[in-house]
Amino acid sequence: MDKSKVTDAGLDALIHAVQRAFENTPDPRLKEIMTLLVKHLHGFAREARLTQEEWFQGIRFLTEVGQTCSDVRQEFILLSDVLGLSMLTVELNDAKPAGCTAPTVFGPFHVEHAPRYDNGEDIGNGAIGKPCVIRGSVRSLSGRPIPDAIVEVWQADDEGLYDVQKPNLGQAQARGVLQARADGSFDFRSVVPEPYPIPADGPVGKLLHASRRSAWRPAHLHFMIKAEGHETLITHVFRRGDRFLQSDPVFGVRDCLVADWELQPDGSTLLVFDFVLNPSSEETGS
Ligand code: BEZ
Ligand code: FE
Repeated sequence: MDKSKVTDAGLDALIHAVQRAFENTPDPRLKEIMTLLVKHLHGFAREARLTQEEWFQGIRFLTEVGQTCSDVRQEFILLSDVLGLSMLTVELNDAKPAGCTAPTVFGPFHVEHAPRYDNGEDIGNGAIGKPCVIRGSVRSLSGRPIPDAIVEVWQADDEGLYDVQKPNLGQAQARGVLQARADGSFDFRSVVPEPYPIPADGPVGKLLHASRRSAWRPAHLHFMIKAEGHETLITHVFRRGDRFLQSDPVFGVRDCLVADWELQPDGSTLLVFDFVLNPSSEETGS
């Protein structure tokens, strides 16, 4: 196209023609999403003055992202993570009142049917790392303890690896499911989690490298807490002072999720963290 002939009115006409093409979409939400997507995609390409070579580079990149996906790897979610889109959707859909524990990204290392443990047990199950004791409680927004809440935890070990990243392990390590006591308290032993890089050997890793961005996540424990009459909470607890807190490649750090992990006289590390769940709307009648 002769660039000199490009006018804003002509480009507007193109956007509107594409939007009109979605006009008969029966599903109103799909219609709304596609209309907005066209508006912002066109706006992006116009503002960036995208060249055809850059457009094709983008197509090649997205193709590689798709080709990197497998049963055990979701490179598109990783792309969403490093673009902050995953965290944005967490925040947009988090209507919890002040006082509730904030959610963050889920991540790819959760597995269904993790082993169950009693309070006080070692969920490390042979994981490599410094000993750690985690104590906490689960309460409702009113302050009432939530008895029997299901507390699921998963984490990386001293090498920054999850058990599922060790193909020959053959057993769950540093993950488990506990049940809070009648007073809402729970505790378990494990290993101190260490920072780790998100999978960086694919196209998302290349993008991070090209952008001089770090692939390293600050150390954290993942929690998923379920309790009757309450919204499920999916979150992490980070370590204060971690050198990667300011550069999390997936933007999952929230100040309220950073806690003190204290070295004890016996050499172990103690984390104490209390979780506050939001009553579900059926419960509050709102
Ligand atoms: C995680 O914390 O497990 C994680 C989250 C997003 C991308 C990669 C890993
Ligand atoms: Fe993680």
